[in-house]
Amino acid sequence: MSNKNDQDEKPKGLENGLTNYGDAGFAVYLRRSFAKSMGFSREMLARPIVGIAFTPSGFNNCHRHFPELLEAIKRGVIARGGLPIEFPTVSLGEVFLNPTSLFYRNLMSMDTEEMIRAQPMDAVVLMGGCDKTVPAQLMGAASADRPAIQIVAGPMMTGTYKTERLGACTDCRRFWGKYRAGEVSGEEIQAIESGLATTAGTCAVMGTASTMACIAETLGMTLPGTAAIPAVHADRLRAAELTGMRAVDLIGSDLTPSRIITESAVENAMRVLLALGGSTNAIIHLTAIAGRLGLKVSLERMNAISDETPVLVNLKPTGAHYMEDFFAAGGMSAVLRELAPLLNLDCVTVTGETLGERITAERDGWINTDVIARFDTPVEPVGGLVALFGSLAPNGAILKRSAADKTLFERQGRAIVFASLDDLAERIDDPDLDVSADDFLVLQNAGPKSPSGMPESGYLPIPEKLARAGVKDMVRISDARMSGTAFGTIVLHVSPDAASGGPLSLVKTGDRIRLSVNERRIDLLVDEAELDRRRSAGEAASAAVQPARGYQKLYYDSVLQAEDGCDFDFLTSERASRSKP
Ligand code: FES
Repeated sequence: MSNKNDQDEKPKGLENGLTNYGDAGFAVYLRRSFAKSMGFSREMLARPIVGIAFTPSGFNNCHRHFPELLEAIKRGVIARGGLPIEFPTVSLGEVFLNPTSLFYRNLMSMDTEEMIRAQPMDAVVLMGGCDKTVPAQLMGAASADRPAIQIVAGPMMTGTYKTERLGACTDCRRFWGKYRAGEVSGEEIQAIESGLATTAGTCAVMGTASTMACIAETLGMTLPGTAAIPAVHADRLRAAELTGMRAVDLIGSDLTPSRIITESAVENAMRVLLALGGSTNAIIHLTAIAGRLGLKVSLERMNAISDETPVLVNLKPTGAHYMEDFFAAGGMSAVLRELAPLLNLDCVTVTGETLGERITAERDGWINTDVIARFDTPVEPVGGLVALFGSLAPNGAILKRSAADKTLFERQGRAIVFASLDDLAERIDDPDLDVSADDFLVLQNAGPKSPSGMPESGYLPIPEKLARAGVKDMVRISDARMSGTAFGTIVLHVSPDAASGGPLSLVKTGDRIRLSVNERRIDLLVDEAELDRRRSAGEAASAAVQPARGYQKLYYDSVLQAEDGCDFDFLTSERASRSKP
């Protein structure tokens, strides 16, 4: 197919988007002379430019191999006749950010969007990896809508402790749980700490980073077969070189993100997310990416897709294997082939091929069915995630049913309420806390509008006295998120959140809550008159914050709820077009 359109006639390379001095000739001359100070020849400066959004950081262990990956991308760009120029943007290293990396995802997306738009590049390569970086770059690129291609960091390799394989971060949590229960000593936990994350790359399981990498490939924004290549594998460097080449081929084409990330492609991504048993965070990110192009992800539609999409992947945190096994087992090519009967095959990808053409070309590819199940003999007959609705969550909540204890799915429980993360930390291990394994732990004020900015704290710890008695899972409910590497019967993203005054803010210890996964319900069994009384008596535990300045003010003035992807209201496509003069 032809990729060329009337953009062929537009200025390219350094002549793109000139600084405005009222004299275009002077602006080019000045720009060229300053670029020459970096040692470029006039011949190189005449080439079309591929910008490379380069995101290494001393605070991002997952991206520590990016300098080597960058060299490979540049090789590819130069070999194809382009000029590669990298530029820095915000980088988000998941565990180094306070209050949470999600709080800064929109900042990174704005940085990415504006730098793509402001600088003279004809196409862009997006180097992402750690959890929020992949969605932030796709959101920014979707809004900028220049030709773009993403390459992800790839997963870490596993380590070992004695005879056990260790992979961040499901095993981080597993061993920490054992340590809290007194099954692992202080010395052992120190040794384990050194073996959990031993190479460059993203977490070694199907957590948020891996899920988002697979979603980026399904959407068609990466080269085929690249999501799962381990970070340290030579194949990743070869993929980077090819990505650089493809970026040059995209110049002047109409294959911009808005043509690739369509409603059909988003639905494919949702299906793949469910078939992977992927991270709950991915729902928020996919919603935000789609929202940048005016597309709505509906939780009701997600439930319908979940009921007809089998889980095909046997990976931690819900299954047995790690990302390096997934790659060796056939990776995303195998998943897409198996899932083909349910996919929209006419979606065009960044290669110019449709998804269907890609799948046909790979029809004889390898699959190891220990890791990636056949469509007819799936790991689970239905998808990994469901949305719940009810009086406690009128706008929805999420449960990762594939990571939960099914014996807890249909029950009522007494609420044990924690008003904030500080309250949780103070009381959860109190030996005098009145709590049993049948109770529902409820955390308030950990949603997008809360002071903590929706951290991954929905994985409430089992109270120490119950953990020591052998309790492994309980129903836990909050407006927070959960790490993609965690597991348990955990109801997340309750919306509206408590800080916005949602029903969650009105729950008190001792109230009854009913969970029914079959009916997709989560209900607070307190009558409306009593809730009204609590509301008017000012008893809602609603910790709204109103910072006076800076990014924090922008965040709290503008952040949307989970069902809108926690994007900023003025960045979604609808708002953006409304604000145009
Ligand atoms: Fe970067 Fe897990 S910490 S992907």
